[in-house]
Amino acid sequence: MNPAKLKGANGIKRIAVIPGDGIGVDVTAEATKVLRAVAAAAGRSLELVEFDWGADRYLRDGVTLPQGAEEMLRREFDAILVGALGDPRVPSMKHAADILLGLRFKLDLFVNARPIELLDTALTPLRDRTERDIHFIVFRENTEGLYVGMGGIFKKGTPDEIAIQEDVNTRKGVERIIRYAFEYARQHQLRRLCMSDKSNALTYGHDLWQRVFAQVKEEYADIESSHWYIDALAMQMVKDPGQFQVIVTCNMFGDIISDLGAQLAGGMGLAPSGNINPESVSLFEPVHGSAPKYAGKNIANPLAAILAASMMLDHLGWADEAAAINAAVRASVREKQTTPDLGGSLGTREVGDWLANQISKQGVAPVRVQQ
Ligand SMILES: NC(=O)c1ccc[n+]([C@@H]2O[C@H](COP(=O)([O-])OP(=O)(O)OC[C@H]3O[C@@H](n4cnc5c(N)ncnc54)[C@H](O)[C@@H]3O)[C@@H](O)[C@H]2O)c1
Repeated sequence: MNPAKLKGANGIKRIAVIPGDGIGVDVTAEATKVLRAVAAAAGRSLELVEFDWGADRYLRDGVTLPQGAEEMLRREFDAILVGALGDPRVPSMKHAADILLGLRFKLDLFVNARPIELLDTALTPLRDRTERDIHFIVFRENTEGLYVGMGGIFKKGTPDEIAIQEDVNTRKGVERIIRYAFEYARQHQLRRLCMSDKSNALTYGHDLWQRVFAQVKEEYADIESSHWYIDALAMQMVKDPGQFQVIVTCNMFGDIISDLGAQLAGGMGLAPSGNINPESVSLFEPVHGSAPKYAGKNIANPLAAILAASMMLDHLGWADEAAAINAAVRASVREKQTTPDLGGSLGTREVGDWLANQISKQGVAPVRVQQ
């Protein structure tokens, strides 16, 4: 092993970059442009190493996630930045499943963090709601639930067909995501946490969520905890989003309500996410997919990917640099220096250029902690 490649050597952060397919390639180019600009402005060292894992590679030599990839990523990198995966030439989605779900499970990225933050009043479809009302984070359990792929189909294609999809909830899995959400709230001086399940109908799996939540919240008396059934939560997110600061829920419900939340805050062009293992390497990506019809046309909105890169820096302890990116993104939205989906007239590359320039001009200032 080359010691220079070890993460953390000489204060350098090493980032594995997987642009993937379609617009993933376009938006990742802008995210890395902005990362380079912020590192330069702060006088910090960032090493970005690109991997060509995606549909082209799969179609060329059959490789999806190369053997030993997860071990190499864990050993040599501080974080992973992904664009998007999915290509119409691979209808089975084999490469995307191997790469994204493969990394999620093999690296045990059990936290899916989805911040929902309205950057400009004009972007929400809700009437009379402002930036103050829509500002919370959803923590979705990312390695269990209905998405583990356990089950089967019996008598397929016959009138007697049976399809079974198992919902896996382990005490360890439920406890660690609930505890992570409480810890996040405490560390970020947030006072309210809501757990959501469907324990009135899912009387085994979500009874476990109820019992674990009751137990863990005892250790966090400084945080006001509440509970909504998932159907009621969906309603409350639209009716009164200001009541939420931190939401924690299972894999499938988190998948659904974080998309609802993204839409409340201006849509997919602005939604970043983190797939986190607090003790190992974590992966950051925009929530949107590879939108193949827009690929290579310089029209995809790069802000979600750029906000994912900012989340990554914050996770790595570069809070000032993350704040500088967020401030530049906020300014671009306010001044309509955006792609057409957000009301601007710039191309993908021009948005990246504008942000990089803004960061170079503004510099990186220490973040002031509000008491
Ligand atoms: N995490 C991922 O890599 C991921 C997530 C979702 C979908 N996918 C895959 O992406 C492919 C396309 O899926 P889809 O069409 O359902 O979802 P998508 O998010 O790629 O696109 C849906 C629509 O949203 C809009 N959109 C999305 N991102 C945008 C951006 N950055 N700028 C401007 N507009 C944007 C476009 O109108 C697009 O047609 C599929 O192969 C799917 O499986 C991948």
